Amino acid sequence: MNEEESRLLSSEAEQSEEFLEKSLRPQYLSQYIGQDKVKRELEIYIKAAKQREESLDHVLLYGPPGLGKTTMAMVIANEMMVNIKTTSGPAIEKPGDLVAILNELEPGDVLFIDEIHRLPRVAEELLYSAMEDFYVDIMVGQGPNAHPVHFPLPPFTLVGATTRAGMLSAPLRDRFGIICHMEYYEDDDLKEIVLRSADIFATDIVESGAFEIARRSRGTPRIANRLLKRVRDFAQVEGNGEIDIQLADEALKMLQVDHKGLDYVDQKILRTMIELYNGGPVGLTTIAVNISEETETVEDMYEPYLIQKGFIKRTQRGRVVTEFAYEHLGYDFYKE
Ligand SMILES: Nc1ncnc2c1ncn2[C@@H]1O[C@H](COP(=O)(O)OP(=O)(O)O)[C@@H](O)[C@H]1O
Ligand SMILES: [Mg+2]
Repeated sequence: MNEEESRLLSSEAEQSEEFLEKSLRPQYLSQYIGQDKVKRELEIYIKAAKQREESLDHVLLYGPPGLGKTTMAMVIANEMMVNIKTTSGPAIEKPGDLVAILNELEPGDVLFIDEIHRLPRVAEELLYSAMEDFYVDIMVGQGPNAHPVHFPLPPFTLVGATTRAGMLSAPLRDRFGIICHMEYYEDDDLKEIVLRSADIFATDIVESGAFEIARRSRGTPRIANRLLKRVRDFAQVEGNGEIDIQLADEALKMLQVDHKGLDYVDQKILRTMIELYNGGPVGLTTIAVNISEETETVEDMYEPYLIQKGFIKRTQRGRVVTEFAYEHLGYDFYKE
């Protein structure tokens, strides 16, 4: 791989992150815990495509960060027994970047584009014909010598990941034959993920300890794995190495993860809304500025969970803190 290629594919930091996570990633559908609806659908489409010896139709995976979209893209490639090439929307700066990647594809391969909603418009437009009829028309040469070249591609499967399907333009979204919505995990599924990861780390854990980590992980495998690593350190240094419910609780308290699984930022969002804005309505950007986070981070990572668990409501005039959140944080609920 030359320098140009490695810039397009993924940065070194991302690759080392990838390496850390690699051992934890399930490789096949049968190892992928939870997301039963998505798995059941994909299983059928994959089987059908393989029977017909065709490439799988394009797949869009959407849902909050850390729910297993990248993992699922890899699982799809493994199940189809093809190679996967990985890039992301922001890594592609110009159409040529995308053409360079498309040029590398073998028949049936998976092209995974993470954060596909951040693809530049000109690159996105190239994808339309690539996805629909497996070709791109590109301009070659400059000035008076510029001429269009028709460039055929092998049949391939585009797997796109995005945090919100609504951020994709309609023409792009419509070209995905398979659209999968990833949901927050049930506590029991997350518990299985924690037990599996603990097994990979060769860490002693009892079921109730795994469940305690699971139910305080905001329905998200990435968070569950991260908390497991920290609780494991705590068990090693402060305990006898085994993770039980009491040790998990102590460690999570130290990590500022409360009993409902809200972390420091979640709590800060709610407290800011209560203390500065009398519980709202308040706009998302205002909240983000107050807690020094990006609006997009608040919108993608924090708000959906706070809404799902009933701490925040979305109204026409902005976000509102619920009575439940006041009680949970120990404030008197009083609205004039
Ligand atoms: N269903 C699952 N079973 C086990 N581990 C999972 C599952 N989904 C995600 N993970 C783990 O959670 C972490 C984050 O998953 P990832 O695919 O990177 O999420 P996303 O791409 O949606 O942000 C990875 O370490 C992965 O191994
Ligand atoms: Mg990802």
